[in-house]
Amino acid sequence: MKMRLAIIGAGAAGIVSLKYALEAGFECECIEETETFGGTWNYTDKSGTNKFGFPIHRTMYKNLKTTVPKELMTFLDASYPTELLEYFLTQPQVLQYLTDYVNKFNLEKQIKYYESVVKVEWLSNNTWRILTINIKNNILSSKTYDAVLICSGRYRFPRIPKYPGQELFKGHQMHSCNYRSPEAFNGKRVLIIGGSFSALDISHQLQGIAKMIFLSHKTGMNVKYIIIKTAVKQFCESGVVFEDGTKEEFDVVIYCTGYDCKFPYLTESCGIIVENNYISPLYKNIVNIKHPSMYFIGMVTVNTSFLTCDIQARFVVAAIAKKFSLPIKKSMLKQLKRQVLKLEKNNIPLDHIHKLGINQGNYYKELAKIAPITPTSPILSDVFKVLYINLCKSVFNTTY
Ligand SMILES: Cc1cc2nc3c(=O)[nH]c(=O)nc-3n(C[C@H](O)[C@H](O)[C@H](O)COP(=O)(O)OP(=O)(O)OC[C@H]3O[C@@H](n4cnc5c(N)ncnc54)[C@H](O)[C@@H]3O)c2cc1C
Ligand SMILES: *[C@@H]1O[C@H](CO)[C@@H](O)[C@H](O)[C@H]1NC(C)=O
Ligand SMILES: *[C@@H]1O[C@H](CO)[C@@H](O)[C@H](O)[C@H]1NC(C)=O
Ligand SMILES: *[C@@H]1O[C@H](CO)[C@@H](O)[C@H](O)[C@H]1NC(C)=O
Repeated sequence: MKMRLAIIGAGAAGIVSLKYALEAGFECECIEETETFGGTWNYTDKSGTNKFGFPIHRTMYKNLKTTVPKELMTFLDASYPTELLEYFLTQPQVLQYLTDYVNKFNLEKQIKYYESVVKVEWLSNNTWRILTINIKNNILSSKTYDAVLICSGRYRFPRIPKYPGQELFKGHQMHSCNYRSPEAFNGKRVLIIGGSFSALDISHQLQGIAKMIFLSHKTGMNVKYIIIKTAVKQFCESGVVFEDGTKEEFDVVIYCTGYDCKFPYLTESCGIIVENNYISPLYKNIVNIKHPSMYFIGMVTVNTSFLTCDIQARFVVAAIAKKFSLPIKKSMLKQLKRQVLKLEKNNIPLDHIHKLGINQGNYYKELAKIAPITPTSPILSDVFKVLYINLCKSVFNTTY
């Protein structure tokens, strides 16, 4: 009998997994709760709930520019059209790439749209039962599979830190995931909290439109058109007080404070625990060590996410096809434990296991060494490394 695979989500991770799984001859179902593939890259100007009353989880905003050149945003078997000369693409251009990919490999017929996964259970005969709800008619259905690929995305549930007095503030507070375009901020005094790329990108978009842009961040940054502030100490009706004691008035506060990693559909039987964004126990950030027929794709925080999803998907498909054997549970756990102890010793939060940063290239090499798969071009990893170091130097005042 053919292996039956469930792929949860049809974003970049889901479609590249689907492509390789179909190629390997598995029976695949890609379960996607929205009406379309592309995940994050399918921009919608809507936020809140959709016409079926179902929450919209899109986090992309209009005119988003990618932070890495397109050469680093490719899957192995598809490059960008040669007439595309820019390095840094916009959201519609990336979505076009994903659309071309889906069409080239004829993936859409295996995607089940409007189906939302509500429950995944591990059964004692080593299969997985997945319960889905059709968001158009609320009909529940349940099916069993031999393997599950979790591709539901890392940037889904906005994280908003708590500050004293937050509820007193009379202005508008929002998370960056609900930011769509700059027009709404015309003439406003805006405070952006957070020091990530979304903070920089949004502040850049608001330049010349907002009346004043303040950015509150724990470590320093060099940006000309914004006023840099320390962390927020507390809110008041008209604005906030910063750690340095200064007070400013604001109309809007935008939280660019990232996301909580969650998989609400995983039941206890799956054996996965997520705490403070740390998913465990995973082997190589991919394999559920408790039940090694469940795999996570795209959960590492990297900037070369397409390359990462591509090699992770090939690793997983090779494992399911028994092209190589995963180590026994005990030795996978031991490897993980070693990583955990190292972080704990240095007082580093455990979710850093998922943050590859400058080590992306080594991670790719490692995966290609374990499984018989084509390695990612080392040139790509090197290009990224240089880019990363320069960016950290010029924008974040930090060195690596
Ligand atoms: C603002 C922003 C900017 C970014 N910029 C870049 C960049 O410049 N370069 C880069 O490489 N990466 C960037 N990224 C990272 C980006 O997330 C990845 O490029 C990539 O899109 C991740 O794909 P994914 O498939 O893992 O997740 P997603 O794109 O989130 O796809 C997950 C899919 O799963 C579906 N899903 C979720 N839960 C369920 C469920 N229970 N049932 C059914 N379906 C479900 C969702 O509807 C969605 O379609 C950015 C991310 C954000 C948020
Ligand atoms: C993106 O989403 C919109 C609806 O929000 C849809 O009409 C469109 O077809 C989608 N684009 C792609 C390429 O899937
Ligand atoms: C495993 O058990 C479930 C539930 O009892 C059943 O529906 C399924 O067919 C079984 N699968 C196999 C391969 O035995
Ligand atoms: C990579 O992405 C992370 C967050 O996803 C960000 O904090 C970091 O600065 C990015 N670096 C580069 C070089 O794009």
